[in-house]
Amino acid sequence: MNLWKISLDKYNSYDNRKYETLFTLANGYRGIRGALEFSSKGNKGNYIAGIFDKSQSQVTEIVNLQDPLGFNIYIEDEKVDIDECVLDSFKRELDMYKGILYTSFIAITKKGKSIEVKCERFVSRNKINRWAAKYEITPLNFNGKVFLENYIDGSVTNSAWDVMNKTKHFKVKNNYDSNPGIALTVETNDNNIKALELTTLMGENEIGNIFKNRRYSEFGELVSEVYETFMTEGKSSTIVKYGISISDRDLKSDLYASGTRQLKDFMKDGYDVEIKKHIIIWEKIWNEIDINIDGDEKAQIGIRFNLFQLASSAYEGDTTISIAAKGLHGEGYKGHVFWDTEVFMLPFFIYTRPDVAKALLMYRYNTLKGARKNAETTGYKGARFAWEAADEGLEVTPKWGVDYDGNAVRIWTGDEEYHINSDIAFGIVEYYRATNDKEFIVNQGVEILLDTAKFWQSRVEYNKVEDRYEISSVIGPDEFHEHVDNNVFTNYLAKWNIEKALFFKNWLKIEDNVKYKVLCSKLGLNEEDFNVWEMIYKKMYIPKSEDGMIIEQFEGYFDLADIEISKYDENEMPIWPDFKGNKLGETQLLKQADVAQLMIMLPEEFSEDVKKFNYEYYEQRTMHKSSLSPSMYSILGLAVGDRQNAYKYFMKAIYTDLEDNQGNTDFGLHAAAAGGSWQSAIFGFVGLRVNKEGILNINPWLPEQWEGLSFNINWKNSRVSISISKDKIEVNSTGDLSLNIYDKKYLISNKKHLVVER
Ligand code: BGC
Repeated sequence: MNLWKISLDKYNSYDNRKYETLFTLANGYRGIRGALEFSSKGNKGNYIAGIFDKSQSQVTEIVNLQDPLGFNIYIEDEKVDIDECVLDSFKRELDMYKGILYTSFIAITKKGKSIEVKCERFVSRNKINRWAAKYEITPLNFNGKVFLENYIDGSVTNSAWDVMNKTKHFKVKNNYDSNPGIALTVETNDNNIKALELTTLMGENEIGNIFKNRRYSEFGELVSEVYETFMTEGKSSTIVKYGISISDRDLKSDLYASGTRQLKDFMKDGYDVEIKKHIIIWEKIWNEIDINIDGDEKAQIGIRFNLFQLASSAYEGDTTISIAAKGLHGEGYKGHVFWDTEVFMLPFFIYTRPDVAKALLMYRYNTLKGARKNAETTGYKGARFAWEAADEGLEVTPKWGVDYDGNAVRIWTGDEEYHINSDIAFGIVEYYRATNDKEFIVNQGVEILLDTAKFWQSRVEYNKVEDRYEISSVIGPDEFHEHVDNNVFTNYLAKWNIEKALFFKNWLKIEDNVKYKVLCSKLGLNEEDFNVWEMIYKKMYIPKSEDGMIIEQFEGYFDLADIEISKYDENEMPIWPDFKGNKLGETQLLKQADVAQLMIMLPEEFSEDVKKFNYEYYEQRTMHKSSLSPSMYSILGLAVGDRQNAYKYFMKAIYTDLEDNQGNTDFGLHAAAAGGSWQSAIFGFVGLRVNKEGILNINPWLPEQWEGLSFNINWKNSRVSISISKDKIEVNSTGDLSLNIYDKKYLISNKKHLVVER
């Protein structure tokens, strides 16, 4: 079994959408869903990160741009359409090591012509605007005329599968005959962002060019060039399609002129040179991100799929974009950015690709204006980050959705899921703790910490009778319960956010007093505010059980109907129990980790016993109806000794999309589950955590069948390689490192190799 490949051996057009998601190729700048050129079934998707538009849709959404993949083969007058042909063989394969998607098939047309097609496609990691495909075409039982059509389709819409929400976000501006080559420019409706796709074909066999004739055409929103060739039985021809994708969102010059120049350069470099450079970059990325699991092939492939897709979804070159909940892999959640990024994906980037982590945090800094506006328009102060954010940081959560019966349902998350503010603060502190990036914390980080704390100051309510601060009417991570008071996750992290703001403002005051004063005057803060913050920090209400061991998820939670989960499906996941006449929100059932989530984020704040009691209590009541949940329970489970469930939850997390276990992979990647998968391996099985003194700890436990686990992380500018086998742990570090292994302290000096028996 090749442990770097995801393969599909059978064609079924019903699965096209799912595989478009799984086979998406992206480089952080853009993503192209893994659509098949030779089928019209599915949902093609071409997205450039940061290009959003609202126009007729309910809220601003990522724009599905013109499709540049268009490629048809005609044998005389018959189009090779795999939904119409008989398929003699079919295979698709994503090579994750190289970042290349392969497709091959033998198709027999209605007139009995048999043709073999082998293609490969890549979206360059070397030059982000380049992508290309290569087709090797062989007639198997005929000689004759073959026409090859290269086209760009501007008739694309968003939500193509949903007639009530289908929206076209752009107008086709220009078609170009680049002779050879074609181009099509579109312009978005609201912000007039232009995007250009430019493609051209080169066709060769052993005697050189195979094209005899070319015809350029414009068909409304579609531009095409067709080449006539003559093909001979058993002889292969190779056609290379070069593509350039650019937008004036990031390029302030004439798009077509720049595009044609770039295409020329690309062709001059050649397909082979570009793909080689692309592969070298992927090799380098794998060197940073890979987790090697020996002895468990299913786990190995699964974890790599998640690492590959995460690394594909971001790059360090743009600080005005972040990763959407569905990556660059589909239109689910409208391309919006959630807490998924900071809490679930960011740790992966912090520890493997810190430059990318910084760019992701810079997106929050660069959208502070929107966050301040959100606070202002909802009656608060400081910065209120949007539960769902797009290009400007304004709140873009839809207010209404539709249930299965077609009834309108009010969506409250955008109004009440305030914890996103502390989640972002959490991401900043985690990043700084692991990287020591002073420049970032001084210039951007502290500002976010202070302005989010200022928001909490305006949001909390003082309860005079109880002499405590409360936060009423919120939604915590568990979205089954709306309008709840004193959700512990929200309260605890608001308190923590304020504590960190106080700590870093004191730190900045000493570190860079001018900067400190400038910030205070910019944000309108003074000692009076800081005194209030101290009070909030000390008196924030955290509901608990009477013995103090079980944290009450929110005030009144223990009084709700305690419905038992007693049935599990074939994957050992909970089946809905009978609510016995209650509404879901009237039960103690949870959608996803909530109290458990808090204990994973702040592991040092809770004793082992408290973690164990809470894990046991809440695990039995969690339905895992969010893909964010299983990985988190695996981490907390391992921390409290539940090894049996940990492996189950880990596998569930890493196979979220590969097995489509949430049933909606069609609409994009579960990027948070991918981040959770990394966390489950590293924070869970390796037991990596940073203790109160800021020292790195590992406490590995490996499932029986795992022969070994190895990986690299960045820790304060050193690269640390850790390899765990059944009988020993080996550690290398490029810089001096203090590390606790099973609570024993080790000092590793520069480039020395540490071996510890297990
Ligand atoms: C989850 C949220 C998550 C969102 C986007 C929801 O179903 O409950 O926690 O942020 O999906 O992934």
